[in-house]
Amino acid sequence: MGEFTSITTDDAGVATLRLDRAPMNALNSQVWTELGEAARTLTAADDVAAVVIWGGPKIFAAGADIKQMQGMDFQEFFSHGGGLQESFQALARLPKVTIAAINGYALGGGCELALTADFRFAADNAKLGQPEILLGVIPGAGGTQRLSRLVGVSKAKEMVYGGGTYDAQQCLDMGLVDQVHPADEVYDRAVEAARRYAGGPYALRMAKKAIDEGAEMDLDSALRLETTLFTACFATEDRRIGMDSFVQDGPGKAVFTRR
Ligand code: CAA
Repeated sequence: MGEFTSITTDDAGVATLRLDRAPMNALNSQVWTELGEAARTLTAADDVAAVVIWGGPKIFAAGADIKQMQGMDFQEFFSHGGGLQESFQALARLPKVTIAAINGYALGGGCELALTADFRFAADNAKLGQPEILLGVIPGAGGTQRLSRLVGVSKAKEMVYGGGTYDAQQCLDMGLVDQVHPADEVYDRAVEAARRYAGGPYALRMAKKAIDEGAEMDLDSALRLETTLFTACFATEDRRIGMDSFVQDGPGKAVFTRR
């Protein structure tokens, strides 16, 4: 779809958003613009129910393009730098299940890209980290926020203050990744999982919205959001299919339409 990103969709409704900017998938302003466009395209695509974000078999992404940033001054970054965060927020808000499949390094903005997904499947050779501090900056695409919400404030501070790199097992232990697989299998495992979610009901969108948006609210407001979205499920065809199927055939046999 763009020079450095592509979207391919299979029959099961799983799209792969592939990043391809050799040698390290560094995220320059064009890449992050393309990622924002991809988020809009994937949001609107009725044939897409789940998305795998993949950087290819060698590297997920080495972060924002340091060579592009090197020459930028305050004004330039103030005017344009927010685009990266906006694109990542659009990906995080995708109303479909998303899985990052991580081979090799996911550093800085690469780790933050993985953090936009619902789940992270890492290859056993994956290495994640937020090394921005070593460049004299802080994570600027959600790394101080999504990371601490996922792994806790202390662990996030350790990662961001120290700028260290963490292997797949360490990431699994701290909850930064959800599953670890052999490097040559991780993408396929992510697609398999995405296919299972793609067969799920429209209510998955409601669940994602309730959990993600509710996490940013006080409990009373979040519970009201939950009630609204729970009630909204009754406007879907899949709610009727799910309950009819249970009554007729027992649990877990419904074939949903994603409507
Ligand atoms: N931006 C621009 N170029 C990069 C890059 C980046 N983030 N990461 C790697 N490259 C370039 C290298 O400069 C090198 O270019 P040349 O061939 O022209 O010298 C090429 O890619 C290959 O890199 P290495 O030789 O370093 O490869 P390696 O295998 O020895 O190391 C690596 C790989 C560990 C990923 C290492 O390149 C590295 O540490 N990269 C930078 C990671 C980083 O600091 N990321 C944070 C960026 S800031 C950010 O992301 C801000 C934010 O929150 C939005």
